[in-house]
Amino acid sequence: MKKDFLWGGALSNVQAEGGYLEDGKGLNVYDNLTVTPEKGIEPQFCKTNIAVDHYHHWQEDIDLMAEMGFKAYRFSIVWSRINPLGDEEEPNEKGLAFYERMVDYCLSKNIEPVVSLVHFDMPLHLMEEYNGFLNKKVIEFYVSHVRHIVNRLKGKVKYYITYNEINLGVFMPELVAGVRLPENMSQEQLFAQLTINLQIAHAKAVLAIKNIDPEAKVGGMIGHTPFYAATCKPEDVLASQFQNQMHNYLALDIMCFGRLPHYFLQFMKNRNINVEYSESEKENIYNASRLLDYIAFSYYQSAITSSFNDIQDINKQEDAILYDKRGYKNPYCPANEWGWQIDANGLRYSLIDFYSRYHKPLFIVENGIGIDEKLINGKVYDDERIIYYQKHITAMKEAIEHDGIDVIGYLAWSPIDFLSSHKEIRKRYGFIYVNRDYKDLKDLKRYRKKSFYWYQKVIHSNGTNLENTID
Ligand code: BG6
Repeated sequence: MKKDFLWGGALSNVQAEGGYLEDGKGLNVYDNLTVTPEKGIEPQFCKTNIAVDHYHHWQEDIDLMAEMGFKAYRFSIVWSRINPLGDEEEPNEKGLAFYERMVDYCLSKNIEPVVSLVHFDMPLHLMEEYNGFLNKKVIEFYVSHVRHIVNRLKGKVKYYITYNEINLGVFMPELVAGVRLPENMSQEQLFAQLTINLQIAHAKAVLAIKNIDPEAKVGGMIGHTPFYAATCKPEDVLASQFQNQMHNYLALDIMCFGRLPHYFLQFMKNRNINVEYSESEKENIYNASRLLDYIAFSYYQSAITSSFNDIQDINKQEDAILYDKRGYKNPYCPANEWGWQIDANGLRYSLIDFYSRYHKPLFIVENGIGIDEKLINGKVYDDERIIYYQKHITAMKEAIEHDGIDVIGYLAWSPIDFLSSHKEIRKRYGFIYVNRDYKDLKDLKRYRKKSFYWYQKVIHSNGTNLENTID
């Protein structure tokens, strides 16, 4: 492993901060989200007003990350803290100052800040008034938000991520892109236009960042799930090819190659979909692709897919695959309580796949497992998490050392417990336990889990010692 390999962790501040309307923050799409329980899971949703109170504990939390030896810490800057409504011209000074303190503090601890510019935190007003990124005005508001941040943090932040899991905007439009399906629009039309709008936003952000701080390194990010064919039946292989294109490659192809790929153009042509996409927007996308420094992605699990036997029409077959909710299980992969299938080799497969396709440095900016845990006598023995990480880090090392893949760093999800994207505290991801449950806020005290000490050892040995020898 390279000496400067970025070991660390990542957190979405909107899921951790609380500090609800403090210091001028406005409501955002995550605050507003009404969630539906995942299959087979008893709902235990929390309000976002306190979350894990990272807003008041951030210093203590970063101290704990430093104690683990973090070289890098990825966090998001909550958009509605900087622009409470989103369409105002002036940023909220208290919001900017808050994150600048966080960056300065990381630097003082020799932790490289990796900043995400939007992560489920669009000001609610932009969704209610404009329908989020489906409206091109919102792209301009986003770019202005990006400019406020980069102007402030110029020279301090080296790594930026333009947009968390940009590819999921079309699958979870409210949370990821602040969009509701308009009455007169088909799902496929929304898929096409929103994909393009998000890419324009990404491209303009890249150009703005590079313009303000040419030294900054900018990455595009997707939420990655590789889709395997359920069987070797050729129709299933075609289904997985289509699913991988539309789910995983589409966003990265546009970001890296600077144009809409032929399979996407064909998808639109086959459905008579017209989109608004001007020549200057095309130019922005092309120019930004020349400046992209790395590809970032989250990885939790793989999935399997198959064709629909009863659908003959190819467009309908593809549409059914695109929005497939059958949730087939891979018999070779165990799953956590939420049905997320654990597949460490899928990480190696993805690293090889992306590197061969894009030839750009890769950055694993989220990887981890959600577990329902209890604090017993001040301890959490999370061996299941340690095993998950052992396997994934081993797979990553194989990709680096055996397959020759260029990986910048590995950021575990997450240093500390927080509310899941479904607003659940029960689905814990941290190396640090936060003492609260979904009904009772308790004392919000932080406890080091067993995995805390294990990860500390991993980082200290630069990934050579993965043994679980902690008592
Ligand atoms: C990623 C998101 O999709 O997955 C995170 O970037 C999220 O914000 C993580 O927390 C895990 O998903 P979940 O639903 O278990 O919180």
